[in-house]
Amino acid sequence: MGLLLYFCTKIIIKCHSDDRREEESRKLLVGVTEILRFALDDTGRCIMSEFADKLIHWYAKNGRDLPWRGTKDPYRIWISEIILQQTRVAQGYDYYIRFMRRFPDVFTLAEADEDEVMKHWQGLGYYSRARNLHAAAKSVAEAGAFPTTYEGVLSLKGVGEYTAAAICSFAYGMPRAVVDGNVYRVLARWMGIDTPIDTTAGKKLFAQVADELLDKARPALYNQAIMDFGALQCTPASPDCTHCPLAESCLALAQDRVDALPVKQHRTKVTDRFFNYIYVRAGGHTFIRKRTGNDIWKNLYEPLLIETEEDLSENESTLWQKLQGVLEIREGENKIREGESEICEGVYFRSLRKGVRHVLSHRVIHANFYELRLTDDFHRLEGYQRVAEEDLHKFAVSNLVYQFFSLILGLNNQKV
Ligand code: ADE
Repeated sequence: MGLLLYFCTKIIIKCHSDDRREEESRKLLVGVTEILRFALDDTGRCIMSEFADKLIHWYAKNGRDLPWRGTKDPYRIWISEIILQQTRVAQGYDYYIRFMRRFPDVFTLAEADEDEVMKHWQGLGYYSRARNLHAAAKSVAEAGAFPTTYEGVLSLKGVGEYTAAAICSFAYGMPRAVVDGNVYRVLARWMGIDTPIDTTAGKKLFAQVADELLDKARPALYNQAIMDFGALQCTPASPDCTHCPLAESCLALAQDRVDALPVKQHRTKVTDRFFNYIYVRAGGHTFIRKRTGNDIWKNLYEPLLIETEEDLSENESTLWQKLQGVLEIREGENKIREGESEICEGVYFRSLRKGVRHVLSHRVIHANFYELRLTDDFHRLEGYQRVAEEDLHKFAVSNLVYQFFSLILGLNNQKV
């Protein structure tokens, strides 16, 4: 049995490593299906169902008891899956509980103010997920009910093939295989596939393999099982192969390639950005704005931002010149210096923290935090809204801004 699978897989691997073009790739996938069908007609069916059986058996013993499991409510499943995209269960758990408490059904979510939805998402990152969720909730509420077909679920904003498969298998028992990072890893290792997972050919191949391996009679159980197996047993680093129920038939283990799989072709290009955040304080108030445009942290709030092409932490006079342009402050005798400086009467400027490195998926933000204290009569800052400092906690902010506000308000014993 193992040999047959090994043989099939070797062909897949060989073909795919040679493959460069779309047409070839298409033919290849047809070939792969045939190989798998052949395997299914023969002893392969045993191997495949053994794979599912062992996963499900493992899951019965080791699976996690999570609040979104054991429900068939597509809304709850949808919320959990969106939260868990790019977020580990340990982090997403409390967010899910809080979110469900405040927005227990799709109509409540649809009617909510977007700022409140964003506030419930604060700290989770990838904020387009929350914006899409809210937009999709509105369309579901308008339609009157959650879609009940795979295509209908897939058409919701922010729902891709993975999430649609999760919702449809968990809520409706449809035989749709989930393919997320955990599943890629388990399949790539068990079948010894080194086709890069971030290529068109790789995505097609893995989708097909996942579909073939899915336990069609128990899709929900199988999908939960493979997800947990990837998260807990077949982990990215140091997987526990010694106690793995699939060790005997795992090709990567047999070939000593566990650490090398799955393969990714593209390295994410990371760009550097330089943010100077200035907390402007005047008469118990500060100034914030909602980020707009097609950029990070859209619809989250932030204090006065001066973004520069390079780091200005050692060149604060340039920053000060830019600030003067924005604020139209008359400068007195004092030049900007390290530490607190009185710029002119009643106006103080100080650096609070420099060189804060904030890493996002495609960007590294190099941030410097400053405080500018102005006289109480300062009321208007173009493009920013004036808010009482005690109300600052009501606004959804990025983790970086949260860090800044905690620092500055922590100094004053206020909560963000
Ligand atoms: N990651 C993504 N979806 C999940 C789920 N339903 N259970 C556990 N981890 C997950």
